[in-house]
Amino acid sequence: MAISHKINGNFKHKDIISLDQFSPSDLLTLFRHTKKMGVIAKNAKPSKILAGSIITLLFYEPSSRTFGSFSAAIKQLGGQTIEIQNPQEFSSVSKGETLEDTIRVFEAYSDGIVIRHASMGTAQAAADAAESVPIINAGDGIREHPTQGLLDLYTIYEKFKRLNNLTGVLAGDLLNGRTTHSLIRGLSLYKGNTLYLLSPKSLRLSRQDFNDFLKRGITLIEIDSEKNIPKDAQFWYWTRIQKERFKTKEEYEKVKNTFIVTPDLLKKYAQTNMILMHPLPRVGEITTDVDSDPRAVYLRSEIRNGMYIRMALIALTLGKL
Ligand code: NCD
Repeated sequence: MAISHKINGNFKHKDIISLDQFSPSDLLTLFRHTKKMGVIAKNAKPSKILAGSIITLLFYEPSSRTFGSFSAAIKQLGGQTIEIQNPQEFSSVSKGETLEDTIRVFEAYSDGIVIRHASMGTAQAAADAAESVPIINAGDGIREHPTQGLLDLYTIYEKFKRLNNLTGVLAGDLLNGRTTHSLIRGLSLYKGNTLYLLSPKSLRLSRQDFNDFLKRGITLIEIDSEKNIPKDAQFWYWTRIQKERFKTKEEYEKVKNTFIVTPDLLKKYAQTNMILMHPLPRVGEITTDVDSDPRAVYLRSEIRNGMYIRMALIALTLGKL
């Protein structure tokens, strides 16, 4: 479909490219269905919501959890998948096939396409190429990762029962991290949110993103030391430094593991009723002795919510709910 439209209360046949397509009421609709998906996933009886539907997972960039989460989500609902990882190495794409042709081919075989690609804007290009099936962006370069943003918003909502008047800390590679870009867009839809952005100077949000987000009314405060973490934050959202986006290994080595969550850091700056989130994979920026802290949700609700939100989103975009 040509333009990625606002959801505007109707998910059917919409491409999902950006958090910008959602309104607070669309998010509530999605969350309502997501909650039900949690029950369906635990049910021993198989669901038939996606029976007869085939979804293509087309992942040009490495992925295990997002890929697995989509695959499980579709199967939980009785749908089937065509799963393609690294088509640039293993398929006609390696022979020089264009993205447009690839999309048209898999559009003929399936009812929806989930795409991940290293270049910004590829999900939109896929949506432009597809004539009739919805395209879901599973990460386009450093721009967005909407399903991760949605599951993160859901995880916060589930805990605090609201998405306004929140204080959060976003840490790590804010320049290249697409999950944080989607999360900020989502939190900007609500009033009264303040985000403390903790990153090495060279990995701050691009000035263009920073100014664009500020215009939406969210309060963004850039900090460069753990000492400036506010003690009343409801959530911390830690991320890895995006090694693959660096030009040289040396540049990466200079900034890796600048900010590490340890039990001691939590003790000093985190309140008892907060949650510690991470989109995963983590590569040392949260020490494993933090995992048993009940506030650490990254290997608990956050990861499960990823499957539930994808179940709901795919069923809605395919018009099955
Ligand atoms: C994220 C991604 O791919 O952007 N991971 C994910 O989807 N689970 C975060 C990351 O790679 O750091």
